[in-house]
Amino acid sequence: MPAIVIIGAQWGDEGKGKIVDHLAERAAMVVRYQGGNNAGHTVVIGDTVLKLHQIPSGITRPHVAAVLGHGMVINPPALVEELDILAAEGIPMDNLHISPSAHVVMPYHLRLDALEEEMRGAHALGTTRKGIGPCYTDKVARRGLRVRDLVDPDRFAACTELALERVNRELTGVFGHPPLAVEEIVDAYAPAAQRIAPYVEDTGRLVHEALERGETILMEGAQATMLDIDFGTYPYVTSSSPTAGGACQGSGVSPLAVRGVIGVVKAYTSRVGAGPFPTELLDEMGDWLVERGHEYGTTTGRRRRCGWIDLVSLRYAARVNGFSGLALTRLDVLSGLEEIRLCVGYRLPDGTVTEHYPADADLLGRVEAVYETLPGWQGEISTARRFEELPRAAREYCTRVATLLRVPIDLISVGAERNDLIALRWPA
Ligand code: IMP
Repeated sequence: MPAIVIIGAQWGDEGKGKIVDHLAERAAMVVRYQGGNNAGHTVVIGDTVLKLHQIPSGITRPHVAAVLGHGMVINPPALVEELDILAAEGIPMDNLHISPSAHVVMPYHLRLDALEEEMRGAHALGTTRKGIGPCYTDKVARRGLRVRDLVDPDRFAACTELALERVNRELTGVFGHPPLAVEEIVDAYAPAAQRIAPYVEDTGRLVHEALERGETILMEGAQATMLDIDFGTYPYVTSSSPTAGGACQGSGVSPLAVRGVIGVVKAYTSRVGAGPFPTELLDEMGDWLVERGHEYGTTTGRRRRCGWIDLVSLRYAARVNGFSGLALTRLDVLSGLEEIRLCVGYRLPDGTVTEHYPADADLLGRVEAVYETLPGWQGEISTARRFEELPRAAREYCTRVATLLRVPIDLISVGAERNDLIALRWPA
């Protein structure tokens, strides 16, 4: 059996956690391949709402190995908090595996993230301030600390001391911030390092062996295509590669093993943080989507910006990821509207209309969305378990999205609960 990648197709918060949780029922392993605790994945099981940030959503299935791959950046104390939450829910963690090569988010990364954002002033990116950008910066500059350094106390102290020689110059010289002490960091991270150590092992080998046994592996993306460092709305992006290529890079799975790439598409669009958003609704309709969809960040609690679905950027996402199928989520949020709009083109500043996504994010900020309008539907749809049980207008909406993207729909999510799903086909 193959590897299947699950990727956000918009600006994040599409509901990937629930899709992964569903598919994990038939998988042996779920690998997170990038990002850190800037992500927030919500899994609702009955009355229990689990908010996961670093641990893959598959952890709730006892038969599934949950892997934190080497492409991730890990915040150790925050990871321990998640372990505690899972333990309190009685979820076993003997099947958790953490790559020794994942990078460690250090306390100074958090400080630098906040200080850099403040320095940007009006041009702030609206990061989650979880230290993600500075941590990946150190990784690429070949001066980062990895999980293998964290779990060896002497090595961690020595690496931290070396890192602080440079970091303290930056903190004091550039930002006028007081320097940090090695002991402060070592003491803060030592208990977490001890807790994490038993789970550290060569995850690349685990993944490879699972594929050799013919098992199904899910590769769980965090953030989303339009936040990708290369393909997203740069500089208003995250510092990693959530797209399909990044899945292989951050997990150790060969591209030849990937059989399915699922694009998770929210039935409308949301974005947190700054950056262009052509279909953003700044009127009562936008407020309605925020309230009806409870669009507040899982990680930061920030109010998300909301708007209609944008098929132009979604076509681009389908192209760069090669989506084999779609998981259309939060369809229930749209119930109760008289009509629903779909952005099918962008009007450029010179008045011409294009169906093609402009690679230049500056231009993206100056386009006007061109809409097609479909009738809405009334009544709740969360009990539907077959496509035919949806109101006719809801079916037409789904079909129109799939037709415009030229990608079939695998799954439709119709409510928050684990089972509020319509499964149309198995993705690979
Ligand atoms: P960073 O990843 O914290 O550096 O933030 C960079 C951008 O990505 C900001 O616009 C964040 O709001 C956004 N972002 C990061 N993680 C998520 C997420 O899980 N969902 C939605 N947006 C995110």
